[in-house]
Amino acid sequence: MWRPTFTILRKVVFPSLKDNIRLSKIFYTTKSRLPRSTAKLTLVSAGVGVLIGAGYGGYTHYKLNSKKNVALTETEEYAFFQEAPKYQAHYKIINETDTTNLQLVLFQYQTCPFCCKVRAYLDSKGISYEIVEVDAVLRQAINWSDYKKVPILLAKVDGGYQQLFDSTAIISMLETFLRDKTLQLHEIIKFYPITKYINEDGKNTTDITNKYFIMHNSTNVHEKEKRAENEEREWRQWADRVLVHTLSPNVYRTAGEALETFKWFEEVGGWRQSFPSWECILMVYGGAAAMWMIAKRLKARHNIKDDVRQSLYDAACTWMDAVKKKGTRFLGGEQPNLADVTVYGVLSSIEGCQAFKDLRKNTDIGLWYDEMRKNMESKRGRALAINA
Ligand SMILES: *[C@@H]1O[C@H](CO)[C@@H](O)[C@H](O)[C@H]1NC(C)=O
Ligand SMILES: *[C@@H]1O[C@H](CO)[C@@H](O)[C@H](O)[C@H]1NC(C)=O
Ligand SMILES: *[C@@H]1O[C@H](CO)[C@@H](O)[C@H](O)[C@H]1NC(C)=O
Ligand SMILES: *[C@@H]1O[C@H](CO)[C@@H](O)[C@H](O)[C@H]1NC(C)=O
Repeated sequence: MWRPTFTILRKVVFPSLKDNIRLSKIFYTTKSRLPRSTAKLTLVSAGVGVLIGAGYGGYTHYKLNSKKNVALTETEEYAFFQEAPKYQAHYKIINETDTTNLQLVLFQYQTCPFCCKVRAYLDSKGISYEIVEVDAVLRQAINWSDYKKVPILLAKVDGGYQQLFDSTAIISMLETFLRDKTLQLHEIIKFYPITKYINEDGKNTTDITNKYFIMHNSTNVHEKEKRAENEEREWRQWADRVLVHTLSPNVYRTAGEALETFKWFEEVGGWRQSFPSWECILMVYGGAAAMWMIAKRLKARHNIKDDVRQSLYDAACTWMDAVKKKGTRFLGGEQPNLADVTVYGVLSSIEGCQAFKDLRKNTDIGLWYDEMRKNMESKRGRALAINA
């Protein structure tokens, strides 16, 4: 729900401000380009990556679901920085028993479903990490990156810092890292080549090949394990392609709900503590008005029912049916798998909204959700606020 918000802020709100108000001068001057001093390392070409990806483990290789008019153009590499970009963390999650040796910084919006997914994953593994809350308007906190969306995960590796992006890819890469102790992150990214292509709207877009796959080197995987992996992957895709699209039309259903939603974003994102008040006001009121207006368009694009709540309830029931069929506490069994964590993460992004309260009242997803929350909270480290 965040991506469209920014597009609107950038393309509609800013230009109109530019025409009408002096204030815009501040925006535009602070936004000026700075020289790029970051070294980028070419790590691997997609061709090599795909070959290794296919060979490694012998069977998993996710193909881009290429639509007819999609033209592959070229490949990109994950940015590598010899020095850490300057950043100001807002809080840390610290788990003293974390033995992964990962040093991670997550650049995020607290209530973006994709960021919530990544946090849910990190928490489910008891990993320590730092959080940088990005301001939605100027996005200065990620001005060092060519990748302009969140989440961005910065991982300390030998000799520098590796930038990872795409919530699904981040989860798959870290999961591969945790399962196979012989691999380093800089090796793992080779299994997830970035493909650049031009989408139906004629825009340059990137996708990450294999992003739903966990890599492993065993050549003979049991049939049962393979089935479980397939199932987990399908539900992760469902969360990205179906569930997530039911959220925006619901949380911005009416002008009142949109405003309430943005006020909740402001509260849990700690905007008032971190950003200037003019920016908070612009984000809350401008964001709510813009999103309320475009939520209808999103509804049409993603085939959401006229009664938008019904689409949300339907998605919840689809998920709960799958969990119940398992007869276990979670889809993954007695412990959550990546599908549980993904669905939980996505839903947690609307926890403070009326839509979520209605969802709990009208479906039985609360049973599973509360179990998930208990499970996550038992593993997550303690939060430590950092004062600027
Ligand atoms: C830390 O992580 C471990 C699992 O790695 C978990 O069992 C533990 O509960 C976590 N939380 C804290 C606060 O240490
Ligand atoms: C990024 O923004 C920070 C302020 O948050 C500023 O100090 C820094 O100079 C900016 N860097 C670039 C590369 O724009
Ligand atoms: C697979 O990984 C294990 C350790 O995780 C290692 O001992 C083994 O040699 C690897 N096998 C292959 C074929 O790479
Ligand atoms: C896409 O990117 C290429 C360079 O990578 C550039 O030449 C081209 O103009 C871009 N196309 C669009 C539509 O932005």
